[in-house]
Amino acid sequence: MTGRPTLAVVGATGAVGTVMLQILSQRADIWGEIRLIASPRSAGRKLTVRGAEVEVAALTEDAFAGVDIALFDVPDEVAAEWAPVAAARGAVVVDNSGAFRMDPDVPLVVPEVNPHTVRSRPRGIVANPNCTTLTMIVALGALHAEFGLRELVVSSYQAVSGAGRAGVEALRAQLSLVAGTELGTSPGDVRRAVGEDTGPFPEPVALNVVPWAGSLREDGWSSEEMKVRDESRKILGLPRLPVAVTCVRVPVITTHSLTVHARFQREVGVEGAREILATAPGVVLCDDPAAGEFPTPADVVGTDPTWVGRVRRALDDPTALELFVCGDNLRKGAALNCAQIAELIAAETSAGVPPAL
Ligand SMILES: NC(=O)c1ccc[n+]([C@@H]2O[C@H](COP(=O)([O-])OP(=O)(O)OC[C@H]3O[C@@H](n4cnc5c(N)ncnc54)[C@H](OP(=O)(O)O)[C@@H]3O)[C@@H](O)[C@H]2O)c1
Repeated sequence: MTGRPTLAVVGATGAVGTVMLQILSQRADIWGEIRLIASPRSAGRKLTVRGAEVEVAALTEDAFAGVDIALFDVPDEVAAEWAPVAAARGAVVVDNSGAFRMDPDVPLVVPEVNPHTVRSRPRGIVANPNCTTLTMIVALGALHAEFGLRELVVSSYQAVSGAGRAGVEALRAQLSLVAGTELGTSPGDVRRAVGEDTGPFPEPVALNVVPWAGSLREDGWSSEEMKVRDESRKILGLPRLPVAVTCVRVPVITTHSLTVHARFQREVGVEGAREILATAPGVVLCDDPAAGEFPTPADVVGTDPTWVGRVRRALDDPTALELFVCGDNLRKGAALNCAQIAELIAAETSAGVPPAL
């Protein structure tokens, strides 16, 4: 890489891609050309990044000519096929999909927690964690560094944009069908109003909560629950960490929330934990229940940090903390973390660091 690196955004038209273009327009501009790529359906569309219109190109091998870093914000199967193509053309891929996260030859990077791992990338691919894991992991990484994590019990309250544009469209359509009605008072009335088409969700999500995200895995677990477990272990370098997760979809457009029961190696004091959270990079402590202050998606959406509130010591275990965490799933949960990883990679050459593996 010489001069300003060329960046490609693959999936620039999607839910994550759209936020990626906003983030690239808002952060310090270190990039030369920014190339926008999507499916042939979108080729020729014009999108705005850094205040200028850029035409979207169709995904082809040639689209990666001269690209230094390629951010992939596309479905798993598209990333699985095309990330190796981009890497073979000499680009370092930062992949937001689930295709490579658990590959032992692909680092899974959160710049505030394990930035050193980005340099070991034998496949030329770096993975970005799943949005639910990313919602809590910056805060947990800071607490782990001080107290040593021993166990996690997590419940999620996930926004519909975690299922992409289709998820947002489904909730908006359902809300328009139930708004101003008396629905939600007898069994099945919401389902009848919404009809058969519930979008990417197995049940209506308007006026409802749905204890399901992803696809079915062994013994009744969902793929999303397994991702949170596997990815947390990999990022924290704790391959045997006990993790129990229940993922739930709620009628929020963007911003995931999680309740976390975290058990540590030693006793934890609430004041000590608060101090760590208040000073950890990328974390905001918002925790004054007497004043009615705690994070909620309505306030957190569109912001970058991990917001933490309701910090309490477990009543029956002096080594455990209870937390409520909120984070924008399209910003830190997806596009922002990818952009931060790309900036780490871009800094390698400008800092005179030898090329990565
Ligand atoms: N949403 C989240 O909160 C979130 C968080 C973390 C990670 N992710 C992951 O990020 C990825 C993108 O998610 P999303 O929510 O942004 O999805 P999305 O809104 O459905 O957008 C998908 C993008 O991929 C493009 N695409 C689809 N098929 C393609 C193909 N065959 N060739 C080239 N481009 C193709 C689409 O282009 P067209 O517009 O041309 O169809 C669009 O730009 C997924 O792997 C998802 O799991 C999402």
